[in-house]
Amino acid sequence: MYRAHDTLLDREVAFAVIKTVGFEQTSKERISREAQAMGRLGVHPNIVAVLDLGQEGDGSPYMVTELMGGGDIEGVLEEAEENRLSLERTIEIGKAVCEGLEFAHARGIVHRDLKPGNVWLTEDGTAKIGDFGLAVMTDRSRLTREGMMVGTVSYMPPEQATGGEITPKADLYSLGAMLYEMVTGRPPFLGDDEVAIIGQHINTAPVAPTWHNGNCPRPLEALVMRLLSKDPSERPDSAQDVLNALDTIDLTARGETVERDANSLESLAGGVFVGRQAEMDQLKAALEDVLGGSGRLVTLVGEPGIGKTRISEELATYAGLRGAQVLWGRCYETGGQPPYWPWIQAIRSYVRETDPEELRCQMGSSASVIAEVVTDVKDRLPDLQPAPQMDDPDSTRFRLFDSITSFLKTASNTWPLVLVLDDLHWSDRPSLTFLEFMAREIGQSRLLIVATYRDMELNRRHPLSVTLGDLSRERLFERVLLRGLSEADIARFIEIASGINAPQELSATIRRHTEGNPLFVTEVVRELVQSGELAANVSSGSSTWSVRIPEGVREVIGRRLDRLSERANEMPTTAAVVGRDFRLDTLKGLVENTTEGQLLDVLDESLDAKIIEELSDAVGHYQFTHALMQETLTSELSLTRRVRLHARIAETLEALYGDQVEENASELAYHYVEAEAVLGSEKLLRYSVVGVNRQWKPTVRRKPWPTSSVLNQPSKERPTIR
Ligand SMILES: Nc1ncnc2c1ncn2[C@@H]1O[C@H](COP(=O)(O)OP(=O)(O)OP(=O)(O)O)[C@@H](O)[C@H]1O
Ligand SMILES: [Mg+2]
Repeated sequence: MYRAHDTLLDREVAFAVIKTVGFEQTSKERISREAQAMGRLGVHPNIVAVLDLGQEGDGSPYMVTELMGGGDIEGVLEEAEENRLSLERTIEIGKAVCEGLEFAHARGIVHRDLKPGNVWLTEDGTAKIGDFGLAVMTDRSRLTREGMMVGTVSYMPPEQATGGEITPKADLYSLGAMLYEMVTGRPPFLGDDEVAIIGQHINTAPVAPTWHNGNCPRPLEALVMRLLSKDPSERPDSAQDVLNALDTIDLTARGETVERDANSLESLAGGVFVGRQAEMDQLKAALEDVLGGSGRLVTLVGEPGIGKTRISEELATYAGLRGAQVLWGRCYETGGQPPYWPWIQAIRSYVRETDPEELRCQMGSSASVIAEVVTDVKDRLPDLQPAPQMDDPDSTRFRLFDSITSFLKTASNTWPLVLVLDDLHWSDRPSLTFLEFMAREIGQSRLLIVATYRDMELNRRHPLSVTLGDLSRERLFERVLLRGLSEADIARFIEIASGINAPQELSATIRRHTEGNPLFVTEVVRELVQSGELAANVSSGSSTWSVRIPEGVREVIGRRLDRLSERANEMPTTAAVVGRDFRLDTLKGLVENTTEGQLLDVLDESLDAKIIEELSDAVGHYQFTHALMQETLTSELSLTRRVRLHARIAETLEALYGDQVEENASELAYHYVEAEAVLGSEKLLRYSVVGVNRQWKPTVRRKPWPTSSVLNQPSKERPTIR
């Protein structure tokens, strides 16, 4: 864009060449045609006037428009305090945009890329919409090539992201997003990349604007939220309606402080997706392979709450943008589902959404066989004859496997398919046998199978372990292991979810407590936001952070521990009082009436359940897999029992260390401190002094947090862990 001088009419104008390098001839022609349509749009005080159109020597179209001396709204927002505008100015600009849109819509023209960067101000502050229709011509808004998406997607209506029909209501959504940003200083959805943002446009309700700006009047908030409806039919009918609504908003009525309602809090963290760059890259690469005709099986593995389902959803959004259809199948812990349940669910959703004739073509003679398992096929193709009976169960099963496989392969020819099988650790056996069969068959198809499971649920005898073992020998799948979010991811999460810039100490503290498990991070951050502590501490510049472990988190951990047999439950509780890590020798001294063999069995059970893990530095050295695990266990003990245990541990360790007590003084001091009520303070003082003199550095053992002050208190006044 250049500022130019029109010598003929002696006026200042803007001159822009539309970049068409690398575009096909047809696209160039389309651009010219659309540019002409814009030219024909006519003159309106709220639309940047096109003064001339033409072609450069190389065929690139150029355009001369009136000069907008006040710059665009994007620039204005950047400069503004808190990146927001006054409510008066917001409404004024909103109304001007409505006038322009109403005029264009009445002439059958949809903008399709309305955003602050496309709304311009004249020298005297009148807002005008520019770049009408240009975005679509250059196809900027859809993912057309691998990971390609140019420009911002912050204002993109969901129907545009999913390739649905674009009507004038698309512009109304974008207007809603723009109003949202002018009022709150941030667009409705933030994310680390385009897909993360688009996913929220499609699936997540925005947080009410008053959450970010308490001054926003309720009627304006309601209007913005209606404009941001996912379903176009729920948005206002026309730009004129929005204009009328904006006209009636009474700004003098604001000032009452608005209650932040719980619903908007719920959605605060709901749609956020942070980090996971490497894992997403791996998944995207697998998808690209599949689009190119090489089917793939990928497993997503990790502990509960680590984000297996969430990253699958993110992949599903991306796959949708890349033109694939995504089918979901879930397994349940409760049991009682028929065999092949996850497969049935996935196929069923496909069957329901596909035209019967197309389905008939894709299934061919297999339809009747598939219908025996997926009964919906019968509903769609009522004239189906029953499949001939077979005597031998193996042949019957083979026929079923072969029928479903060839159907899915054929279906994926028309439309690439992504099948997400969630929580496979709860799957029935037949489903796993079929997965094994499929994995060997999908090589030449456009099928991506994504299977998620909790590794902690699998021991060597688990049917899924057997399936995966076989498949991995044949290198038939790729495993993506999910670990905790990093400190930077957590900081980003807080920023996106609450709009508050998290100090480094806070994200470090949260990371330490939760080990980056997103479920726990979400809960902890929600609690901090809900209690108002986050905002209060940030504004007071506090540098020490206390993090409460919310009920929900303890429940999750508790459930994992509930799976252990009774005896196996006792051992970790004792071990937890010893510390985050502990030794077999120490335990032997602490548990009575138990042989070493029994103790090892119990440890094996906890190892299998991934409650503890072996440390590689020495034989018989273990640690809890999760800091929260140890905390929860100690918190379940009454104060008296805990103090007694500390006393026994202190004495056992003292005996074990023998003449090496000095080297281990700090550890001993810790247990003597906790056991003071039972053992008195003599040894506590002795070891504390030695510990200080030896300048012990806490590199050897990690101490548990001072749990006695924390988790056993009535929940209302729970003090906090530092
Ligand atoms: N990368 C992420 N960014 C932000 N939030 C996330 C992320 N990953 C997961 N979450 C959130 O953490 C919570 C737990 O994630 P999710 O349900 O995907 O875990 P899971 O691994 O599927 O657990 P389970 O084994 O119990 O099924 C959800 O609320 C989810 O939205
Ligand atoms: Mg899940």
